[in-house]
Amino acid sequence: MLFRGFFCGRRAAALLLGLGFATGALRAEVAQAPQVDAAALPSLGKAWQAANPYRGQFAAETALPLGQAAYNQACARCHGADASTNAAPAPDLRNLNRSCRRIEDADLKAWCLRDNDTYFAKTVRQGKVIVGVTHMPAWEGILPQELAWAIQLFIENQAQKR
Ligand code: HEC
Repeated sequence: MLFRGFFCGRRAAALLLGLGFATGALRAEVAQAPQVDAAALPSLGKAWQAANPYRGQFAAETALPLGQAAYNQACARCHGADASTNAAPAPDLRNLNRSCRRIEDADLKAWCLRDNDTYFAKTVRQGKVIVGVTHMPAWEGILPQELAWAIQLFIENQAQKR
């Protein structure tokens, strides 16, 4: 009797511990909207663009500080402060378009960047859920696309500084 009680107690404790881990992990992976006013960026509406509409044709001095602020509030805790460290648990985002940057042919480079933009937007919107485990939360409906594209410009700017 005593033995059975001991056994059940241990199983209950293990279950509680497991639940604790599960809820702890879920809490850590919830996407929280950055408190950054995107009003200074040209409005893009609800439908997501296939490529970054701000790249090359929008005043960097407006997009970069907003992108930096939004990045540091929303992404830095996993990808590293100011996208400037390899020590973070998640991938160094400065490597994202590294292969595009090496291409010299202008048309090919544009295609490469466009492809990369589509992947960036898809990843941000859907997050990264691998075999049921949320490695990165989804930002759809939480992060306005204006801020997502500004974040990408900020990351690319950081990549160029290396
Ligand atoms: C809870 C931690 C976490 C947060 C917060 C987070 N990410 Fe991630 N992200 C990850 C992890 C982990 C991966 C790698 C997932 C995998 O492929 O296994 C990743 C992958 C990515 C990738 C794909 C990288 C590649 O090389 O393929 C992009 C793009 C990305 N994140 C962008 C962002 C942006 C932008 C933000 C902020 C809006 C953000 N992430 C917030 C954890 C996070």
